[in-house]
Amino acid sequence: GGEEAMPEWRAIFGAALPHIDVRWWSDPTLPREDVHYALVWEPPPGFLARLVNLKLIVSSGAGVDHLTQDPDLPRHVPIVKMGAPEAAARMAEYVLAAVLFHHRRFHHFVDAQRRRQWARVETTEAANRVVGVMGLGTLGAAAATALRTTGFRVRGWSRNAKTLDGIETFAGRDGFDAFLDGTEILVCLLAATPETEGIVNAATLARLPGGACVVNAARGSHVVLPDLIAALDSGHIAAATLDVFETEPLPADDPAWAHPRILITPHVASTAGRQARGRFVIEAIRAFEAGETLPNQYDPARGY
Ligand code: NAP
Ligand code: GLV
Repeated sequence: GGEEAMPEWRAIFGAALPHIDVRWWSDPTLPREDVHYALVWEPPPGFLARLVNLKLIVSSGAGVDHLTQDPDLPRHVPIVKMGAPEAAARMAEYVLAAVLFHHRRFHHFVDAQRRRQWARVETTEAANRVVGVMGLGTLGAAAATALRTTGFRVRGWSRNAKTLDGIETFAGRDGFDAFLDGTEILVCLLAATPETEGIVNAATLARLPGGACVVNAARGSHVVLPDLIAALDSGHIAAATLDVFETEPLPADDPAWAHPRILITPHVASTAGRQARGRFVIEAIRAFEAGETLPNQYDPARGY
């Protein structure tokens, strides 16, 4: 949101943290040297470096790639990534919607309707459908659990081995092929790092069974879009739902817009409301002031 959200932010923070003066970032009277906490989405590069007494950065998004790309990011200041439970619940909703769309072959019906075709296809129960979730962090774990509760056969893949109730888990590069084998709907909720860049590429897609579908709600950098379009055109991949892109908004001339088997959503998968985000930010500032462990802290060594 823009500056019009300030009264609401003031009310949220004023009630819980009365000792804090809440200011809008581009306020010309902002006393930069007095800023201790910054709640940001995509600040202009170099902006945070000018807040010389900054103690804590809270990213209003779960992804911090846009912050870490700033060459002048003050590296000594801890970063907390948005971890409101409501944000995870909203992502779980989005993933459920997209997975059910593909599971019930709605992508086929959307395409058939365009051609005025009464084209039935056979579908199966969720219990026969294998959904693989890449990334089992705050959002991936919530999505995987929601899919499990809906009755899917769910597996997950992460960097470190994980245990999640009712979910088959795989870890690391060594576990990747076994994770992909048999995954009929692939969901990407990975962190964006150099290791995960372009991970949904021709080789990965080729490993999935014929007719598989892809859902990307993480970052555009995870999917090699020309590889995905080639796999869709060859018929190996049936359809995809994409919420995130390398360039956003997706340029009007991008071939993905017109592809009959790609559903595009404009980076809307998970946005929690201000009250929900505010509660999380308050919790983070309180933890910081009490010298306690920060929630959902970005780890520069891991890169996420
Ligand atoms: P997170 O808690 O940091 O979790 C990241 C996950 O990625 C972890 O499970 C991590 O493994 C895994 N991972 C990282 N590097 C890996 C590697 N090399 N190999 C295998 N797994 C790896 O992140 P999150 O908060 O859940 O967010 C997930 C993604 O969603 C981010 O990309 C974020 O930007 C995106 N996002 C999108 C939207 C939207 O609206 N579309 C909204 C919010 C967030 P470990 O568990 O082993 O550490
Ligand atoms: C949105 O994409 C986020 O990272 O929260």
